[in-house]
Amino acid sequence: MRMYDIIEKKRDKHELSKEEIEFFVNGYSKGEIPDYQMSALLMAIYLNGMTAEELKDLTFAMTNSAKVLDLSSIKVPGKYIVDKHSTGGVGDKVTLIVLPIVASLGVGVCKMSGRGLGFTGGTVDKLESIVGYNVNIPINDAIDQVRDIGLCLIAQSSEIAIADKKIYALRDTTATVESINLIASSIMSKKLASGVDRILLDVTVGTGAFMKNLDDARKLSKTMVDIGNLAGVQTKAVITSMSEPLGRNVGNALEIKEVISFLLSDEETLFSDEIRDLREIIFEISAQMIKMSGVCEDMDKNREDIKEAILSHKAYNKFIELVKAQGGHICSAYMDWLGTNMDMPVLNDKVRYLKEIHAQSSGAIISIDSRRIGEALVALGGGRERKEDNIDPAVGFEFAKKVGDKVEEGDTILTVLYNDKAKFEDAYEYIENAIFIDKVDDEVTASLKNKPHILDIITE
Ligand code: URA
Repeated sequence: MRMYDIIEKKRDKHELSKEEIEFFVNGYSKGEIPDYQMSALLMAIYLNGMTAEELKDLTFAMTNSAKVLDLSSIKVPGKYIVDKHSTGGVGDKVTLIVLPIVASLGVGVCKMSGRGLGFTGGTVDKLESIVGYNVNIPINDAIDQVRDIGLCLIAQSSEIAIADKKIYALRDTTATVESINLIASSIMSKKLASGVDRILLDVTVGTGAFMKNLDDARKLSKTMVDIGNLAGVQTKAVITSMSEPLGRNVGNALEIKEVISFLLSDEETLFSDEIRDLREIIFEISAQMIKMSGVCEDMDKNREDIKEAILSHKAYNKFIELVKAQGGHICSAYMDWLGTNMDMPVLNDKVRYLKEIHAQSSGAIISIDSRRIGEALVALGGGRERKEDNIDPAVGFEFAKKVGDKVEEGDTILTVLYNDKAKFEDAYEYIENAIFIDKVDDEVTASLKNKPHILDIITE
């Protein structure tokens, strides 16, 4: 078999056989097929799609490209091990908040996350902004950690789903990310390889997501749910809005700071409009995970328990336990809104420059193009342009205003934190056209502010 013939076949829109799919997945995983041939094939798949049969064969070949984890040693009778995965977004720090919450409520999680992909951020890059945090602990240690503290959060390991690890990095720099087939096979192969009983998918939709409309998000959700069910793993997808950056901060260390603030919220802040987008998504995903794990079926009770876990700092303490277990440095910091010192992760968050971006006119913020914000972050150095690039964990954006907020000309909309003036100039080109302000009446601003963040739930 020759890679050239497989590329040609896909280019000419023919269906690939199981043997051909296994040939290129295994060949690329072992380093026998070069990046340039794999890139050409990925582009052909991106442009010409795949049949359901091809997609199933691709996903299972990727799942079996390395070890499939055996989590039986941490299974508890009557409970299911649930994993959660997002299709990615801008400002998406949901995993970092949900996992400590559910782990503090008795749901064991062993999660492998990815790095930034395209214009979206990655949980692993965010974690690495914590000084000392090791995302590469051996799988057996990760399993031991789940037994000890109920939680581990690591990078895709070379021991697991190696095909996805390599293809993911290649797609990131070859404009082959936004494909339902490639996203579904990437996510489901690594979830199936991680040996979990149940999978909860957060499928994002909007300018800051790979799916731009609800129909495509439903199609991707259904594709992944079908693959999961075919493999005998109950899978559910929650479709969430990514029509503006999620939360207030975008950037690796900045998002860890937002995670800390969220987990240390008092009741008034937790239920404030300021963090409505993040709160709605966090509560839904966490409550669904608790339900799927078999800990508690009652979604209302789960929401109450989530609130209690946050307000009592149980979830925050679990986050700190996680950081410590994986080598992250911790200091003691005074939290003025709590009036006390708390343990806090030490962050690589030093920046030389701050620049406020002001409203050019008065009115209300109608939209913030999150893709442009994600691209601006890459331009600042907070994401990768080439797969071997190092990133600057400290740079990013803090939003003072979000969609639906009224502004006067000159008000600060966001602050840019950066280290390199030339990179700021590049980033500014994206930011400049990302925010749209218009004069609208109160009814319109209210509807913009109150738009839902949970758009659908797909179970079959
Ligand atoms: N997340 C993944 O793990 N893979 C994708 O292709 C997109 C988002």
